[in-house]
Amino acid sequence: MYTEKVMDHFEHPRNVGELENPSGMGTVGNPKCGDIMRIYLDIDENQVIRDVKFKTFGCGAAVATSSMATELVKGKTVQEAMAVTNKAVMEALDGLPPVKVHCSLLAEEAIHAALWDYAQKNGITIEGLEPPKDNIEEEEDEEDY
Ligand code: FES
Repeated sequence: MYTEKVMDHFEHPRNVGELENPSGMGTVGNPKCGDIMRIYLDIDENQVIRDVKFKTFGCGAAVATSSMATELVKGKTVQEAMAVTNKAVMEALDGLPPVKVHCSLLAEEAIHAALWDYAQKNGITIEGLEPPKDNIEEEEDEEDY
């Protein structure tokens, strides 16, 4: 049911933890299952993501997708990080079972919320970034997988 990469990131999640004084922090909840995800970003003066950590009260798929998502955004600029969508994360994991797709949205939304927090604090605009939503289920229903 789960790919080897998903199992690897679930059993050995990368970047678990928290950052003190993060440049941006985002917390989102998944209304479908009640799970919660928090992402911390450390961003340098060139808008490059130096470090990233996550904490979750979520399922195994949420752990694996967040682990992969944090690996994908690390070292990228904030603008490049916008390309790390839940689809990109799922591809990097060689896929997720359809019932677990909503879990991967949690990672994407939390990264966006953390980027939003950073952008607000620093008065910058990140192209394509929208204010975090409280309800990520709406977007899931509109998306075409
Ligand atoms: Fe809640 Fe996966 S079941 S995030």
